[in-house]
Amino acid sequence: MYRTHYSSQITEELNGKKVKVAGWVNEVKDLGGIKFVWVKDREGIVQVTAPKKKVSPELFKLIPKLNTEDVIAVEGTVNFTPKAKLGFEILPDRIEVLSKAKTPLPLDPTGKVKAELDTRLDNRFMDLRKPEVMAIFKIRASAFRAVREFFHSEWFIEIHTPKIIATATEGGTELFPMKYFEKDAFLAQSPQLYKQMMMASGLDRVYEIAPIFRAEEHNTTRHLNEAWSIDAEMAFIESEEEVMALLERLIKHTVKYVIEHNEKELQILDFELEEPKLPFRRISYTKALEILADLGKEIPWGEDIDTEGEKMLGNYIKENYNEDLYFLYQYPSEAKPFYIMKYDEKPEISRSFDLEYRGVEITSGGQREHRVDVLVEQIREKGLNPANFEFYLKAFRYGMPPHGGFGLGAERLIKQMLNLGNIREVILFPRDRKRLTP
Ligand code: 4AD
Repeated sequence: MYRTHYSSQITEELNGKKVKVAGWVNEVKDLGGIKFVWVKDREGIVQVTAPKKKVSPELFKLIPKLNTEDVIAVEGTVNFTPKAKLGFEILPDRIEVLSKAKTPLPLDPTGKVKAELDTRLDNRFMDLRKPEVMAIFKIRASAFRAVREFFHSEWFIEIHTPKIIATATEGGTELFPMKYFEKDAFLAQSPQLYKQMMMASGLDRVYEIAPIFRAEEHNTTRHLNEAWSIDAEMAFIESEEEVMALLERLIKHTVKYVIEHNEKELQILDFELEEPKLPFRRISYTKALEILADLGKEIPWGEDIDTEGEKMLGNYIKENYNEDLYFLYQYPSEAKPFYIMKYDEKPEISRSFDLEYRGVEITSGGQREHRVDVLVEQIREKGLNPANFEFYLKAFRYGMPPHGGFGLGAERLIKQMLNLGNIREVILFPRDRKRLTP
């Protein structure tokens, strides 16, 4: 065993005890009669202090030969002393070089020399050695953990649905086609149809955390071609309001969890994350168009609110109410997919919503149409052929409760939560228009 403790696990009770630490050489200092090595691991840095009189001649000679980013394992005694910058040091008995780092390095892991995003992504393994990059992925892991914890506490069951599928759900233009033996197939752009079918199974409340694939042509700071979606679907709802209430509880829980569990990472990122207050403001699509018109941007009723409009609304909400999160709801039925329920008394409006975080859509959802005859009609209205959806429609013919749900983009959530400029910052190996490796 090369490591008994991470750097952050070395506490005062270990004073005078033997430990083993391992990691990457961060810095070497040679003051003649005393030499230092700082070793960094996932959790922080450890100072190794080697006074000539207290260590073997071989070890003393080895230290100046170490290069930054070499991988070493150190065995020694913990010494708490105010003389050490971090409050303690390790007096080494043994240092073993496990792997040498070639020079020059592809990028500066201390972050002092700034690198372009492309260079960073090409060398992601080394980019992650920067504490502020690693902090993002620790926060991402926490957020996923919080989401699972939340769903579990709300009686949701985790499901896993196929990613090789036969039909589109979110409009036909953004699919990645593939050959599936003799048939044509696609990579799933959403688990939509499958999570809805589960509402007819009695599982009742389900969630899935899985990749979605979208052949978006455009290269933006908020689109990926492979993203992770947090999908939920719940049965026996009376309106979309119940789904919105679930979603806002989920967001609050997740942000709170990150605040409570990632104090250190938020500090590294120098970011103050605020716990959102419930309920989130609800603004109807029609009202949003009025606000935008007042701000000088005219959007004809029925058209989607574009990126600029979204940003303007986000700023408006922030300036007037000091809120980062709000719902846009009751979109025109023509702007939403076939599976969304329309208001019976006002069919031009749908029971749909988007959740906006700092001016960017992070979720869309709504109540679904569960009455099979109406659903078939809605499929036709969108110019699609109900025969292609037979496997899905079948689930609606033998007892399908009223239901609704949402798809929450994990990368959008984390990017907006941390107010980062580019979605590529929050996914290890982004897939975009140009990137297929690493
Ligand atoms: O708005 P979308 O397309 O909705 C659906 O997929 C529905 N099936 C959801 C539902 O349950 N009704 O996608 C949902 C979310 C978006 O709000 C966004 O956060 C994320 O998925 N998303 C993407 N994230 C990154 N890159 C992309 N290309 C994304 N496309 C969607």
